[in-house]
Amino acid sequence: MTTTHTPHAGDDHAEDDDVVALLMRQHGDIRNLFDEVEASTGEERRDAFRRLVRLLAVHETAEEEVVHPFARRAFDGGEQVVADRLAEEKAAKETLSALDEMDTDDPKFLERLMRLRTDVQEHARAEERYEFTHIRRSTDAANLAAMARAIKAAEAMAPTRPHPGVESGAKNMALGPVAALMDRTKDAARRAMGKG
Ligand SMILES: [Fe+2]
Ligand SMILES: [Fe+2]
Repeated sequence: MTTTHTPHAGDDHAEDDDVVALLMRQHGDIRNLFDEVEASTGEERRDAFRRLVRLLAVHETAEEEVVHPFARRAFDGGEQVVADRLAEEKAAKETLSALDEMDTDDPKFLERLMRLRTDVQEHARAEERYEFTHIRRSTDAANLAAMARAIKAAEAMAPTRPHPGVESGAKNMALGPVAALMDRTKDAARRAMGKG
């Protein structure tokens, strides 16, 4: 079974310098990873799900730190578009955290995963339609490239495992593994944009 081709978050060596192209490719990777989780069982499913959790957590956090703040002020209605996307992201993160606490062999796991997939896909389509197209029209190539660099840097610095190791502080442990991963990605994004 071809289940190992979807790259890890941060493991993207494509030379594109357009933040919209980068994020849309990740939307494709996310779709593929949902399929990989669905099509596998046992240890293989656990592994695919771990990669999905990381990619989704890191992708949404990077968008929230780099792209949404720009979109908010870049075009008419941007404020509301971003508010709608943030609400969808918040809901998806909560479902993701709940799923992350479940055993991937739990009979209820797949059903919940499929519901998350539907929500995440609608969210991605809404981003592409109402946010990304406007971003592209509202700025120049240099800024699209700068945002792509910030996202790649943040993703490369994000921790590899959703389950933090011994180095994580009490704060991260209290947050839960998915929230801790997002928290550390947020720090990485801020550092990448020179706001650290
Ligand atoms: Fe998003
Ligand atoms: Fe997205």
